[in-house]
Amino acid sequence: MPNLIHQIAGLPITELAQQFGTPFYVYDAAVIRERIMQLASFDVVRYAQKACSNLAILDLMRKHEVLVDAVSAGEIHRALAAGYQAGFNDPPEIIYTADIFDQEALDKVVELEIPVNCGSPDMISQYGQRAPGKSITLRINPGFGHGHSQKTNTGGEQSKHGIWHEQLEDCIERAAEHNLSIAGLHMHIGSGTDMEHLSQVSAAMEKAAMTVGSSITSISAGGGLPTPYRDGDETVDIAAYYEQWDKTRSRLAKEFGHHVSLEIEPGRFLTAESGWLVTEVRAVKKMGGNNFYLVDAGFNNLARPIMYGSYHPMQLCPADGATERGEQAVVVGGPLCESGDIFTQEEGGFVSPRSLPAAEVGDYVVIGCAGAYGYTMSSNYNSKPLCAEVLIDGGTAHLIRERQTLDDLIRLERIP
Ligand code: LLP
Repeated sequence: MPNLIHQIAGLPITELAQQFGTPFYVYDAAVIRERIMQLASFDVVRYAQKACSNLAILDLMRKHEVLVDAVSAGEIHRALAAGYQAGFNDPPEIIYTADIFDQEALDKVVELEIPVNCGSPDMISQYGQRAPGKSITLRINPGFGHGHSQKTNTGGEQSKHGIWHEQLEDCIERAAEHNLSIAGLHMHIGSGTDMEHLSQVSAAMEKAAMTVGSSITSISAGGGLPTPYRDGDETVDIAAYYEQWDKTRSRLAKEFGHHVSLEIEPGRFLTAESGWLVTEVRAVKKMGGNNFYLVDAGFNNLARPIMYGSYHPMQLCPADGATERGEQAVVVGGPLCESGDIFTQEEGGFVSPRSLPAAEVGDYVVIGCAGAYGYTMSSNYNSKPLCAEVLIDGGTAHLIRERQTLDDLIRLERIP
C-alpha cells in the first residue's frame, strides 16, 4: 500500500476534511456492496451491526437484503429505525443475539415479537416465562474458539459466550418445559479468526443439530471472517467456506427431510475495509530516538490499538498535495492524557514505530480498515465530542452523523 494518499472513493481528502472537520470517519458504500455480493451464496446474510451501526449503513444493508442481528435494546431500536421489521418471519429480519437479557431488552423482544437467539440457559427460562409457545434458536459454545486476540475469542471454557455444548440436552428439556421449540442453532467462535478454526465449527454444528433433531430449520455459521489489515494477511476463501457449510446443511436437510437454511453473520467482513478515520496532524516532535506525530483523534475515536494491540494501516495525506515525501520511522499518537493513546502499538509492543512520510502540522494521517469496531467503540473520554461520520456513495459525500457539540457533552447532566 503506498504511504501517500490524496483521495478516498474519488474525493479529495483535504476537501472532505475542510467540509466535515477532523477527525471524522468516512465509509465507501461501493466497498460494502462488493462485500455483500461476495456472500451471495448464503441463504441469509445477517449483519452484526455492532461493527458499524449508523442508520445509513443499516439502511444500505437492508436495501441489499442483508438482515440484521441486535445485541441490545439499543440495537433493536436502531434496526427498527432503519426500516427492518420485527416479527417471526421466515427468516426473521431482526434477531436478538446475546448471553443475557437486561430488563429493557426482555421487554422489547416480548412486546415487539423479536425472535431470540439464547446464549445461556437462563435466557431460555426468562424468555419462556414471558413468551411460552414461541420458537427460539440457541447459541452453542462448541468447546473451542479462536480470535485475533484472546479478548475476541468467543469459544472454549474461558469464554462467557453461548450455551456450553455439553449442556445442550438440558437446554432442550428446559425449552420443552416452557413449550419453546428450537428452530435453529448458531455458533460464533471468535472475531478475526483463521479459516482453519472457522471451518472446524461446521462439524460441531452438525453434531449439535443431530442432538436437537428435526425441529431445526436454520443453522448459523456466525461471523468472525478475517479482514486483511496488513498486506499479506490471510483473506477469506468464501467459496471453500460456503462449500463446507453447504455440505453440513445438506446432510442435515436429508436427515430431517426438510430444507435447512444457512445463515452467516459477519460484521467486520462487511464494513472494515470500507472505512477510514481521517485525522489532522497537530504536532510533530522528537523524543530522544523517537519521532512523534500527534493527531487530533485518539483512542476515544478508535480503541482497537490500545484494546487489542491491533494493527491498522496508515497513510499520509499532505495538505499541500505533495506526491513525494521522504520516509521516517514514526510513532503516531492522539491528544488524550494517557500514555497509551498511541495508534502505532501492536500486541506486545507498546510503541512500535512505523515508516511514514515526513509530515507537517496540517497534514492528515489517514487510518485504514477502520470501518468495523471503529466509531461504535468510541467514547467521550477527556470530554471529546464523538466525531462525524460520512458516507461516500456514487461520488457524493453524505454527512451521516453530525459531530457532537460541546453542549451535547453536558446535556444529560444535572447539578443537584
Ligand atoms: N456474531 C456474534 C454473536 C458476535 O458476537 C460477533 C462479534 C459477530 C457475529 C461479528 O463478528 P465479526 O464478523 O465482526 O468478527 N471489538 C472487536 C470485535 C468484537 C466482536 C464481538 N462480536 C474488534 O474490534 O476486533
